[in-house]
Amino acid sequence: MSNNLIFSGIQPTGNLHLGNYLGAIRNWVKLQNDFECIFCVVDMHAITIPQDPAVLHASIREVAAGMIASGVDPQKNILFNQSRVPAHAELAWVLNCIARIGWLNRMTQFKDKAGKNRDNATVGLYVYPNLMAADILTYKATHVPVGDDQKQHLELARDIAQAFNSQFGVDFFPLPEPQIFATAARVMSLRDGTKKMSKSDASDQSRINLTDGPDEIAQKLKRAKTDPLPLPESAEDMKERPEVANLIGIYAALSDREIGDVVTEFAGKGFAEFKGRLADLAVSVLGPIGTEMQRLTKDPGYVDQVLREGGEKANAIAAPVVDQVHDIVGFLR
Ligand code: TYM
Repeated sequence: MSNNLIFSGIQPTGNLHLGNYLGAIRNWVKLQNDFECIFCVVDMHAITIPQDPAVLHASIREVAAGMIASGVDPQKNILFNQSRVPAHAELAWVLNCIARIGWLNRMTQFKDKAGKNRDNATVGLYVYPNLMAADILTYKATHVPVGDDQKQHLELARDIAQAFNSQFGVDFFPLPEPQIFATAARVMSLRDGTKKMSKSDASDQSRINLTDGPDEIAQKLKRAKTDPLPLPESAEDMKERPEVANLIGIYAALSDREIGDVVTEFAGKGFAEFKGRLADLAVSVLGPIGTEMQRLTKDPGYVDQVLREGGEKANAIAAPVVDQVHDIVGFLR
């Protein structure tokens, strides 16, 4: 398995939340022991939607601190912010000239984010998936651990890699595999079980932030939307109860147990008891992460050093790949 290389990224926009943690970061922590991993704070993706520069600056450090506090080890992995490594933008341009407009038109996340006023969305938001493909391919990464919402972007990255290889008659880019872990691949909003938990949701009650204290976590879970019935007797009974399925999925993920197991334990019980137990569990897992994040945020010198050194290591891998791409394309260097 020595040729496997893992790449994944996270946007520094708003708060890191339970969805980011369960869908992505905690899986990275598990993978780092067995694989070479590169984890990136994708600041160039963040500006596809206008950002306040001072807030963006702070968010880059905060997201890096969140990753480290969650257990991503900067000694074992490469951890950096994207804009330090020019290869991402350079390869993205070449890939812009490979990907087809029709492929991008199918991207559901662009449709969701651009909303009704599509003409006013930035061009960057539209070609965002090409930059994401460049992030992965500039390291020739083979595996990409992400939440379920990134699946379509990963399929596009594979199509782009294949189209590049076939246009130039080379076997240059490996086709990256998405790694989507079964439990908590899509954590839903605490206010609406049909909507994804998201940094951009206007209601802070819809998500648990990694920076929330124990009282906030307990309160948000207590107020989480449910229904008047007791807890289900079987996983089958949760099909029409998205909010309940979400809370049980969160419980299972946080305790590293099977969903069926959790359903059996709480079958027929009331929500007050279940939510109390869930709050205790969430505080026990997330509390130490929040505390460590606060400590790291007070020490930006350390986080900045991690990102700087990570950037140098990332650049050493990525720059030669872009040089080779330029040769393949026919540029005179
Ligand atoms: P982003 O910043 O929206 O989310 C970071 C990671 O968290 C996962 N995630 C979730 N998982 C489960 N439930 C949720 N509610 C939830 N919300 C977010 C995401 O799936 C993701 O794994 N385009 C990417 C960032 C990116 C990237 C890349 C990822 C840029 N380049 C290259 C992988 C490889 C994004 O916006 O993630």
